Amino acid sequence: MYHGGGLACEGVPLEEIAREVGTPAYVYSAGAMRARLREFHEAFADRPALFCYAVKANHNLAVIRNLARVGAGADTVSGGEIERALAAGVPPERIVFAGVAKTDDEIRFALSTGVLQLNVESVPELMRIDAVARELQLRAPVAFRINPDVDAGTLSKISTGRKGDKFGVPFDEAADLYALAAGLEGINPVGLHLHIGSQITRLDPFAAAYRRGIELLRTIRAAGIPLRRLDLGGGFGVRYKNEEPVPASAFAALVQGLTAGLDVELVFEPGRALVAEAGALVASVIYRKESGGRRFLILDAGMNVLIRPALYDAWHDVLPLAEPRPEAHLEPMDVVGPICESSDIFGRDRYLPLLDAGDRVAFLSAGAYGSVMASDYNSRVSAAEVLVDGDRWAVVKPGLAPSRQFADETIPDWLAAGPEGD
Ligand code: LLP
Repeated sequence: MYHGGGLACEGVPLEEIAREVGTPAYVYSAGAMRARLREFHEAFADRPALFCYAVKANHNLAVIRNLARVGAGADTVSGGEIERALAAGVPPERIVFAGVAKTDDEIRFALSTGVLQLNVESVPELMRIDAVARELQLRAPVAFRINPDVDAGTLSKISTGRKGDKFGVPFDEAADLYALAAGLEGINPVGLHLHIGSQITRLDPFAAAYRRGIELLRTIRAAGIPLRRLDLGGGFGVRYKNEEPVPASAFAALVQGLTAGLDVELVFEPGRALVAEAGALVASVIYRKESGGRRFLILDAGMNVLIRPALYDAWHDVLPLAEPRPEAHLEPMDVVGPICESSDIFGRDRYLPLLDAGDRVAFLSAGAYGSVMASDYNSRVSAAEVLVDGDRWAVVKPGLAPSRQFADETIPDWLAAGPEGD
């Protein structure tokens, strides 16, 4: 919040970072990320669990490292994410490999790396994992991702646990699939996995899904397959606007109740909950303009940098970096990006002081699914990423100029020479 007249991240004024690094820039608080993980660890002190940070939320190596140093594992969905987790120092035995469809190369890489488990989403995938594992002469530790057919009550575009969603295997077929898996030479069924969606702010969808998962785990154990691990996914909501997310202690109480007397290793895969509120996107005003009876604030960051508003109509609070004077007159403004797309809008009718070219703003709760979903669309300088830790800070990814973005593109010989227009 505001300190000494300006927004700050931990001890560092955002204006100082923007001045030195340029904008757009994502700024993350390392301390806030660790504090969120600590909250989970403390809540689950009586029922220890492995928290595998879903690196898809923010895969910057420094962000992963910051969490890994205080005990996080990694939930990964591609060979590339496994590489990132390893590069950031996550031990393989704390890495879960999930993802909708894994290629042979990714399966081979995961198995030879020795990850904790592979979460399987289909029978064809199970068969490929079996084949690759036999080729490597080992048994792949797997969990089926089961679809519990529970509506998470979140945005449709980020719901994953309803019947007919593309994720996981149907609940009703799971027992048969475990029996099939147990008979495969290259497969060792070790766990059960579920994840019903993201940005869930109520407890009851979790309760319903967890209950179904535990029921199935008991059924499968009773059938003689000794599953030892229950991976209950992520999806814990955060505050963007006026949501009231469920506290970690409430999850802990729920899980403790549901798993009482059950000897099972617990895994969770929180992404957003660990990093979203710890990050802000800082942008500068290019112009303010009035058109068609509306006032637009046009920034140097757009949907190329933070796509969530354009893609999901997601809300991010926007604040001026300089604290408005108490008497400042606030005006409704459409806060937009510079991208040539009508959907490049961060928010309509946001009440802000009359900012001008060069003034800066920050979008809050932008630490998750921000930089990772950015693109080079319209060839603008990409957003830098900065990690703040107390009064220290470092650029953990530079903003790339367009010439760096196209540095690896080539023009084939037959186009490089010769006259134009022949
Ligand atoms: N585990 C699995 C299997 C997942 O698919 C996901 C997210 C997570 C864990 C982490 O979920 P979280 O704790 O972050 O909610 N781009 C969207 C969110 C997509 C989430 C995809 N899966 C957004 O910007 O809201």
